[in-house]
Amino acid sequence: MKVLISADYSINEDRSDAIKSLKLILKPWEWYKGKHTQKVKNQLKKFFPKHNIQLFLTGRSALYNTLKGLKLKKNDGVAITGFTCEAVVLPVLYNNLNPMYIDIETKTYSMDLSDLKIKLNSKIKVIILQHSFGLIPRFRNEIIELARRKKIIVIEDLAHGFSTKFFKEDTKNTIKLLSFGRSKALSSVFGGAILTKNYNLYTQIHSNYIKLKQPSRLWMFRVLLYKSVSVLNKALYNKISIGKFLHKVFNVLNLIPREVSKLEKRGVFDMRMNKKYPDVLAQLLLTQLKKLKQTQLKRTSIVRYYSTSLKLYKEIIQTYEKQPLSRFPILVQNKKEVLRLGSQRSIYLGKWYSQVIAPEGLNQYKLGYVKGFCPISEKICKKIINLPTNIEIENAKKVIKFIDRYARINY
Ligand SMILES: Cc1ncc(COP(=O)(O)O)c(C=O)c1O
Repeated sequence: MKVLISADYSINEDRSDAIKSLKLILKPWEWYKGKHTQKVKNQLKKFFPKHNIQLFLTGRSALYNTLKGLKLKKNDGVAITGFTCEAVVLPVLYNNLNPMYIDIETKTYSMDLSDLKIKLNSKIKVIILQHSFGLIPRFRNEIIELARRKKIIVIEDLAHGFSTKFFKEDTKNTIKLLSFGRSKALSSVFGGAILTKNYNLYTQIHSNYIKLKQPSRLWMFRVLLYKSVSVLNKALYNKISIGKFLHKVFNVLNLIPREVSKLEKRGVFDMRMNKKYPDVLAQLLLTQLKKLKQTQLKRTSIVRYYSTSLKLYKEIIQTYEKQPLSRFPILVQNKKEVLRLGSQRSIYLGKWYSQVIAPEGLNQYKLGYVKGFCPISEKICKKIINLPTNIEIENAKKVIKFIDRYARINY
């Protein structure tokens, strides 16, 4: 039987999410007001003790309002990796701050300590430490310590995912950014949060939040559709491709709001993404949080399976093995061809990232990036693909059977 295996599409949704969203569509009076946002905060607090939490409509919005709340000076620098997407860079630029692009290391695809040390200057006031694919950055401790000595604020970008086990016990005093976008490890289709132990900063962020608007009812309706329609599409995928057809129809008619807007693809911060987090999305997120432990166990076991099956370097296996990655990154020689061959077998692998400051086609120069700033990131983007991790073992076996002959270790 043909099954859809995807790193991008409906990766977090199952029947429980579809049923929840259908029920919510029928109760529009519950969309804006309720106690579910507070319930989400209470749940998140269990994973991030002592943090104050503010939810937003998107991670982009959470980052934008946090940078605003930090009250930095015009043209202050924000260190950021080149291996990222515009959702991270645009909030920096739209706060009149300068992104300073730092290259990555090749084990966990996170900020490289030596390149940071070379480029570090007194203008840099913030470091955005991205946990790519949910991997703990190789130089996390060193970068946080360096930042502490230089009085630089660290925002840990956990948008791709995070291990609840790790953060429950972690004592580092950093700001955390989460995303609940549909392609992340935990989804309410749209959503984001900022977490900080600094109460003064939290009140600044909160005062920015209360000035924001709620998304419209029509938009909310379209978002709610995603959960049920995507589960239906997956279920119908093997039925003479009805699912595939339905997916195309919804796309062409633009029925579901896009993850990245047209404006953003042109390098403009889209204020329509800068809104409050409606209570109805919190209801969707609670359904996801209920099964988070189980999902993380599943992701961890698939990561272990990939690591051992791909016979990667021992060191890499040790780095990846116990982490519930949202995607499993590997390098291949001919990325486009591998993606194409995969799709012919109904295996849709992820492309993060297709270029320095994704998505593909975005004018990087407009975002202050000049070719050669981050040569390793540029090279990695040409070779990296991502294997899905929230899948059943039979499907992971199919992925390995297909990918094994293409997987490379060296970048
Ligand atoms: C690393 C990273 N940080 C932050 C974000 C922003 O998250 P959101 O899509 O919720 O705005 C993204 C989104 O793609 C991301 O990839």
